[in-house]
Amino acid sequence: MAADNKEPLMRTAQCGRLRESDIGREVVLSGWVQRRRDLGGVIFLDLRDRSGVVQVVCSGEFGEAAFAAADLVRNEYVIRVRGDVVARDPDTVNPNLETGTIEVRAREVELINRAKPTPFPIEDGIDIDESVRLRYRYLDLRRPEMQRTFILRHRALQQVRRFLDRHGFLEIETPMLTRRTPEGARDYLVPSRVHAGHFYALPQSPQLFKQLLMVSGFERYFQIVRCFRDEDLRADRQPEFTQIDIEMSFMPLREFQDLMEQMMADLFQELLGVSVPRPFRRISYGEAMLRYGSDKPDLRFGLEIREVTERVKQCGFRVFQSAVQSGGAVRALNAKGCGRWSRKEIDDLGALAGKLGAKGLAWMIITDEGVKSPIAKFFSEEELRGIQEDLDAESGDLLLFVADRAEVCVEVLGQLRQHLGRRLNLIDDAAFAFAWITDFPLFSYDEEEKRWVAEHHPFTMPRWEDLELMETDPGRVRAQAYDMVLNGYEIGGGSLRIYRRDIQEAMFRTLGFTVEEAREKFGFLLEAFEYGAPPHGGMAFGFDRIIMLMAGKSSIRECIAFPKTASASCLLTGAPSEIAPEQWEELHIQPRPAVVKK
Ligand code: AMO
Ligand code: AMP
Repeated sequence: MAADNKEPLMRTAQCGRLRESDIGREVVLSGWVQRRRDLGGVIFLDLRDRSGVVQVVCSGEFGEAAFAAADLVRNEYVIRVRGDVVARDPDTVNPNLETGTIEVRAREVELINRAKPTPFPIEDGIDIDESVRLRYRYLDLRRPEMQRTFILRHRALQQVRRFLDRHGFLEIETPMLTRRTPEGARDYLVPSRVHAGHFYALPQSPQLFKQLLMVSGFERYFQIVRCFRDEDLRADRQPEFTQIDIEMSFMPLREFQDLMEQMMADLFQELLGVSVPRPFRRISYGEAMLRYGSDKPDLRFGLEIREVTERVKQCGFRVFQSAVQSGGAVRALNAKGCGRWSRKEIDDLGALAGKLGAKGLAWMIITDEGVKSPIAKFFSEEELRGIQEDLDAESGDLLLFVADRAEVCVEVLGQLRQHLGRRLNLIDDAAFAFAWITDFPLFSYDEEEKRWVAEHHPFTMPRWEDLELMETDPGRVRAQAYDMVLNGYEIGGGSLRIYRRDIQEAMFRTLGFTVEEAREKFGFLLEAFEYGAPPHGGMAFGFDRIIMLMAGKSSIRECIAFPKTASASCLLTGAPSEIAPEQWEELHIQPRPAVVKK
């Protein structure tokens, strides 16, 4: 092939892009053999490159040598083909393939590289253990669905960069080897060789640096940045993940949030052709917990939790009564149309509630003849009518009740709501329901440590009207903090920051740090704030989670090229790995005797 040229011509076209308009063209294609079918005198090769697959036909009639070479080819071999694009016979047209109306008749087939049989087929929808996929991630990534995800991820990155650039944001990098940042997870630490006994921390976020950049006068900053958190891993949490990190000065909160909505709406429009209604819904934290039992509610369906505490506080059912008397709550869900459920189905739901932490799950079935329930006898007619009104109940409905401390009601009913939403098919998989969750509390009380701790971080601005409560009634102070949620996931969060020294000092007093302790932890930031800090704020988006939702996946591991397992290891490279004795020494650290191998 291309004998007159030292370096062979690799390709003149991409497999997946060939169309009927190419009929009559001679093309050179390079790629991997997806599948080989030998029909005796004819061999069909499905040739795949990044753009897709095209069928190559090899037969002695079109090229003897090509046919002989095709005979040696196996799945995943790398080959180069020179051939002619022709129309397929009408009865061999493949409507499932974008290139299904044409094929390439091979004049030449060159075998570039062989491949061992792969541990799993390189195709979509394979059903094999994730650990095998991660061990051979480079092959897993060769599969078309993975390629589509990473093309989407790339395009989303470019779209976000363009958007932020157009709106005057500067992309500025901040250090990876740094000091502890206050996001509340455990740090990944890097020992210093030069400074014995000293450690860098990998950033949990660029929080402190982006605030310093505001003091520096950059006004609008962004960074698409890796963050590191040593925390319990789940489907939506990785030890290293990517944030779209944003900070800006001199902009009212509403305008900033509007811009962030626009960024998300543009992203979904450009990449998915989905038009997202704006402005986004706003739900206060308190309301989200009450109505959806979650601070990241899935708003693709209703099935709201209702408070019935007042309604039942005088009733004769001991369980409800004692919950109310001890300061708890009684809350309920209306499982519409589930009145026909069997006793077993209801008991199974009760068992689920038990696993989630409930002491029990009381129920009532609404029928044309009245309320059917083992506990109906404890309620007056008026109470029963009131409950049905509160829950918009009608004949055929199943009402479910949890009586407990408010936190338990929230947790159990929030999870039951999600469970029923899926089970009753209330969730539209194609929908994207965005919202802001606002008015988070600024502090929460740590029962173990017996002190107030910052819910977000200690630089979060309180609501102006709550300032005076900071030292008298911290539990009631609301933060100027907000999360963006999408389909039951927290995809971003941020806040306005404290830029005034008096407020910052009040914050530290409530948290119980002395000024010296605060200096020790964040001295450089506090010092910077004394040189003219502008009013500023920002947020960070979890980019992997956004891609997961856009790509319709259920784990962020599907959207990270080389992710880690639930125990934070990389099955491909074997990280983390042991280090040599000299390295321990060089880094001035010592393994605990228990972990040293004999
Ligand atoms: P926060 O801690 O809320 O805020 O993080 C921002 C967003 O990052 C995503 N996220 C994660 N994604 C994958 N794996 C993880 N382990 C993980 N942890 C967080 C979430 C989350 O909403 N500095 C502040 C932002 C600010 O105040 O400007 C911060 O980091 O989607
Ligand atoms: P008991 O009084 O324990 O026999 O419970 C009667 C019914 O009330 C059963 O259906 C229990 O599941 C339910 N139940 C018990 N404790 C609670 C609770 N804390 N909240 C809601 N229902 C409960």
